[in-house]
Amino acid sequence: MKRIALLTSGGDAPGMNAAIRAIVLACHYEGIVPLGYRHGFNGLLEQEYRVLETEDVYNIIQRGGTILKSARCQAFTTEQGARTAARNLDEANVDGLIIIGGDGSFHGAEHLSKYWQGKIVGLPGTIDNDINGTDATIGYYTAIDTALESIDKVRDTADAFERIFLIEVMGRHAGFIGLSAAVCSGAEQVLLPELYADAPPELEILAEHIKRAQRIRGKCSYIMVMSENLWPGGATDLAKQLQSSTGIECRPVILGHVQRGGSPVSLDRMLASKLGAYAVEALCEGKTGIMIGERNHQLVEVPFQQSWNKTKALDPYLVKIQRQIFDLVSNEKPH
Ligand code: F6P
Repeated sequence: MKRIALLTSGGDAPGMNAAIRAIVLACHYEGIVPLGYRHGFNGLLEQEYRVLETEDVYNIIQRGGTILKSARCQAFTTEQGARTAARNLDEANVDGLIIIGGDGSFHGAEHLSKYWQGKIVGLPGTIDNDINGTDATIGYYTAIDTALESIDKVRDTADAFERIFLIEVMGRHAGFIGLSAAVCSGAEQVLLPELYADAPPELEILAEHIKRAQRIRGKCSYIMVMSENLWPGGATDLAKQLQSSTGIECRPVILGHVQRGGSPVSLDRMLASKLGAYAVEALCEGKTGIMIGERNHQLVEVPFQQSWNKTKALDPYLVKIQRQIFDLVSNEKPH
C-alpha cells in the first residue's frame, strides 16, 4: 500500500477532522502517501486532490466540519461516474480509499468497487447514528450535547413562562438524537420515527398529555422533543395545532444544522481517532469492502451491505424508561 486516498461525503459530522487527522498521521507513520480528495465523490470525478502533509492536520482535531469539504454527488451514482472515478484513482496511483460518511456514502463505496480494483474501507460519520453494525457514528455524541445545551436553555425560559415548547431535532429517519436528547433533558414527551412507523400520533393524544401534565403539576413548562419529518409541517405546525387544541401557549424551536457543527466532544474525537488509525491498518492488511465500527468497545469490521441492510434499533431500555418511568405525566395521579 503506497498511496491512500481519503474523502468525506454526505452530511458533515463533528469528528470528521479528527478521523482525517488519524488517517494522515497513520499513513505517514507507515510511510504511505495520503491524498485528500475534496468535496466528497465530486473530488474523485474532478481529480480535486492533493497530498496531505502532517502540517495539514495540526490543530484540526478540535474543529467541526471537514477540512476536505463534503458534498452529495448525483453524477457519481451512474456507471459512467464510477468508471470515471476508477480511472482517476488509477491515474493518481491510489491503492486504497477511505470514505468517511453515512450509508449513502457506503452505497457509493459499493458502487465504485464494481469498477475499481483498489481496496475500499469506510468510516461511519453522521450525526444521525443510523448505521447498523456500530454502536455509535462519528459526530453523534456531539450532536446530542449540542441539542441538549439548547434544550436546557429553552427549559429556563419555558419554566419562567410556564409554556409548552416543541423542539425539533435532526434525524430524518432515525430517532437516536431525539431519544438521547429527550432522556438527558428530562423532556415530558418524545416523538421519534421508530415509535410511529405507520402514522404520526393523534393530535388529541398529544394535547391530552399536555393537559394532564397541567392538571397534575399545575401550570408548568412542558418540553416535547420531536424528530424532523415526523409531523406534516414540523414543529411549527404542530405547535399551532396544539396551542389551539389546548389553549396553552406553544412555541416551536427548530434546532436544525446547528446540530451538525461545533467542536467534537471527547467521545467523538476518541472514536474518530481509533477508527481512522484502524482503517489504515485494515487497508495495509489487504482488507476491502468493509466499514470499521465499534461495538462493546471493540473495533469491528462490517461488510458494507450489513451497514444498511438492517435498520439499527433504538436502545429499547431507554425507550422504555423514557415512556414509563420518566413520564411523570402518565405516572402521577392528578391531585
Ligand atoms: O447528516 C444527516 C442530516 O443532518 C440529517 O439529520 C438531516 O435530515 C440531513 O442531514 C440534512 O441534510 P442537508 O441539509 O445537508 O441536505
